[in-house]
Amino acid sequence: MEVKQLAKEIETIARRAGEFITQNKITNISEKTQASDIVTDLDVKAQEMILKACLELLPQSEYVAEEDTHKTIGEEYTWVIDPIDGTTNFAYDFHHSCISIALLYKKKGLIGVVYNPFLNECFVGIENEGSYLNGKRIHASQNDLKHAISVVGTAPYYKEYADVVFDNMKKLFLAGRDVRRTGSAALDCCYVACGRVDVYYEERLSPWDYAAGLIIMKNAQACAKALHGEFDYLNPVGIIAANETCFEEVCALLGVNHE
Ligand code: IPD
Ligand code: CA
Ligand code: CA
Repeated sequence: MEVKQLAKEIETIARRAGEFITQNKITNISEKTQASDIVTDLDVKAQEMILKACLELLPQSEYVAEEDTHKTIGEEYTWVIDPIDGTTNFAYDFHHSCISIALLYKKKGLIGVVYNPFLNECFVGIENEGSYLNGKRIHASQNDLKHAISVVGTAPYYKEYADVVFDNMKKLFLAGRDVRRTGSAALDCCYVACGRVDVYYEERLSPWDYAAGLIIMKNAQACAKALHGEFDYLNPVGIIAANETCFEEVCALLGVNHE
């Protein structure tokens, strides 16, 4: 199947899952590793729906999905799925969550789809082709650091990093216009990709949090670098992402080599 057609099929899967989570009521919320780390019954059901459809689309593919212990990167196609990114927002009816689906080919990002059903916004990134919001081409902003809005993820499941996280947040706040904390890493990436924010920083993320958003950012002229490792889609890493104008400045501010 042609890659653009494949992206359309993935968008349909994400939109269906988005409709499912917004049209059904949560009946169970449980804590995973700690009080800040929760999962609802709709996370699990949405993931089942998404996985079934993805594996039907590409029967030979492998997958890494948040609410599943099976986490394997295949030789050819691999899905990296977060059925609901921003689960805490979702459980609190905060209306800022999304479905995030990435498709890798030979361990590299090929297609990223992030769908926010509350705003009916679907971000799609296609490797070497471009990134789109509801079909319209998107690009990262051009603001320098002094004029930057930075979105910061607090790495809520890694509270041992709180000092470095909030020190870095303060640095970004003082160096730029302001900071934001939204509660969805995948949407944070997409917001860098379409210029709604200029910088995104989070000290620790899981592969399903960044996989689709990374493809969308890269194909919208944004820069991104993994902290404490590589974007290998298997292990947790940190992330610094920004538009091309301020990326080096941001890396220097946070003491990170930008190359
Ligand atoms: C979380 C959200 C949050 C980010 C965390 C993620 P989840 O994902 O994206 O914004 O700060 O690092 O784990 O648990 O809601 O899928
Ligand atoms: Ca997530
Ligand atoms: Ca999730």
